[in-house]
Amino acid sequence: MTASDALPARPLGFTLDGERIDGREGDTVASALLRAGITTFTRSIKFHRPRGPFCFAGSCGQCLMRVDGVPSLPACRVPLREGMRCVRQNAPLGADADVLRASFGSYETALGTRPPAEPPRLFERNPLPTLLLYGPEDHVVLPSFPWKAAAACIDCTGPLFVPRAGHFLQWEAAETFNKITTAFCR
Ligand code: FES
Repeated sequence: MTASDALPARPLGFTLDGERIDGREGDTVASALLRAGITTFTRSIKFHRPRGPFCFAGSCGQCLMRVDGVPSLPACRVPLREGMRCVRQNAPLGADADVLRASFGSYETALGTRPPAEPPRLFERNPLPTLLLYGPEDHVVLPSFPWKAAAACIDCTGPLFVPRAGHFLQWEAAETFNKITTAFCR
């Protein structure tokens, strides 16, 4: 054992999704995050289930993260450096939120039996700019749906009726959907 072995590891500051975290010299990104109590490193592509380190050998792909702008690096194999910017991927709501669960929210509110964590916000109008597309061959929702949806939005473009489309408009008229959505987002 040398004198330097006995010295405490130098602290290294880095960020995860913009939040500052303290690691130590000798850490990988993964070990520093685990020590900070963070176990969700990404979300699975299909069902957005939480994923965290499993093999610690760079082979399972459960810890992939964007590091200093480089996507999909295995956090378990990336040595920590001062000032690193780490961003969790595949997590549009933030990695700690579950996008699939969020999509079930309206069903849980209407049909669920568990008490909600907070009151449902069913009667607030949506303040965000909203593109409202409707497939008139939809047999799932009522014909009045597009007008009700438009009334629920403060800043609504539409409803726009897309011919030869129904409930799954985004697949049934994918080209039209993509063009309109792209124009709306510009
Ligand atoms: S933990 Fe398996 S690739 Fe990182």
